[in-house]
Amino acid sequence: MQSPFVIIIFGATGDLMKNKLLPALFSLFQQKRLPEEFHIIGFSRRELSDNEFVNLFTDLPSKEGWGDFAKHLQYQQGSFEDVNGYSELIEKLNTFDKKLGACITRFFYLATPPQHYESILNFLQKTKLSEGCGPHFAKASRSKQESEWTRIVVEKPFGKDLETAIALDKKLAEIFEERQIFRVDHYLGKETVQNILAFRFANGIFDPVWNKQYLDHVQITFAEKKGIEGRGNFFDGVGILRDVGQNHLMQLIAAVAMEQPRSFTKEDLRDERAKVIKALKYIEEKDVNNQVVRGQYKGYLSEKNVPAGSNTETFAAMKFFVNTPRFQNIPFYVRAGKKMPKNTVEISLVFLQTCHILFKEYGCPEIGNILTIKIQPDEGISIRMIAKKPGTKLALETVNMDFTYEEAFMTKGVEAYEKILLDIFAGDQMLFNRSDELGSSWKFITKILKGWESQKSELRSYDQGTWGPKEAEDLIERDGRKWL
Ligand code: BG6
Repeated sequence: MQSPFVIIIFGATGDLMKNKLLPALFSLFQQKRLPEEFHIIGFSRRELSDNEFVNLFTDLPSKEGWGDFAKHLQYQQGSFEDVNGYSELIEKLNTFDKKLGACITRFFYLATPPQHYESILNFLQKTKLSEGCGPHFAKASRSKQESEWTRIVVEKPFGKDLETAIALDKKLAEIFEERQIFRVDHYLGKETVQNILAFRFANGIFDPVWNKQYLDHVQITFAEKKGIEGRGNFFDGVGILRDVGQNHLMQLIAAVAMEQPRSFTKEDLRDERAKVIKALKYIEEKDVNNQVVRGQYKGYLSEKNVPAGSNTETFAAMKFFVNTPRFQNIPFYVRAGKKMPKNTVEISLVFLQTCHILFKEYGCPEIGNILTIKIQPDEGISIRMIAKKPGTKLALETVNMDFTYEEAFMTKGVEAYEKILLDIFAGDQMLFNRSDELGSSWKFITKILKGWESQKSELRSYDQGTWGPKEAEDLIERDGRKWL
């Protein structure tokens, strides 16, 4: 059981809190994985009483223990850009410290739209909230130890391009030490993403073929049936490339392409992730129109809080290379989009077609073996192979061998945000981004963003419920391949 803590969530009336953070905190409470003494303070602009705040979360799937959990929730109204809310917050936090007779650990969670990060950080610094204990414990000069009782948690998007990401990092480093900073990408907390490493490195049979000698290409699809779901304020101007490309997709690429870490410890794992992201071959501005497709679903412009004529992309597909000895010259085709025909996030490794000449006349399929890692839904792994069709004549057909989490373990595993929060409370940074990883991914993404601008890349519209614009098909078909 951890020590007492208080988590202050900025932007607590937003979607992230409602859909992910609060349900994860409540589930951890139900599983008795939170300490006896903990407090959750929602900080937002809206005028709400504590009760009204609690009532924002009435539609949780299971309510067992809700009454007891709700006693740990409080609300602090305040503008992110005005000192008043922060001053009142200090008062609240002081009461916890006084009651405990010690400094309670403070987690500051930035779950607002990113344009408020700078201002919140400035106020945390100015009011000395970032330094931990309230003024009743103040000394002439605060020791480092006291500041250990605070942590800062930063949600993605971490900046909007390389320059702003560097500026944000600089600001964070001015206030906090690296071990206090948690840069969240909840894909790192997903059971299936963590399993990629176990699957690759705990089974001796896959590593020998996981390379350019046996692979034809790699495909990643990140498809969501939903659109922007009223998140126009957040999504517009950000776009799918920054929203999921710069972070979630990078983590999938890193997990599939990295080398075996020396150990499953924070720095070894982060080192290997960082090496892959650094090894991404930049798509130069002049090549952007050949290697990247950007699209927008029809009807996006009528979504709430989307300005007329918005040029924001809701779909992107691209081809690129990972310049490591293992993957040299193996193309990666990646696509991500909203309003797709179904929800699916998966990575497929397509192996070279090696069906022996002996079998050519009996129906060797065009595509060889495929190993698919299903991140969600139906979490699991599937291997496509060739088998003899039952019967008196020799004929071949492709079949799938499937492993699903639910069948094998009778559970889908831990929710990503539960894992992320537990690690934050425990101070374990392994599944959080290090600043150099982010820097490299922003360098790669910023080149594309600049290319879109300088090359006047067209925004292709696509019908809702389709796999994006036709140009995305062309992107892969030009190379004689197909999206799976
Ligand atoms: C978020 C993005 O980070 O991830 C959303 O902002 C996206 O646009 C979401 O829908 C997907 O996460 P999950 O866990 O629901 O697959």
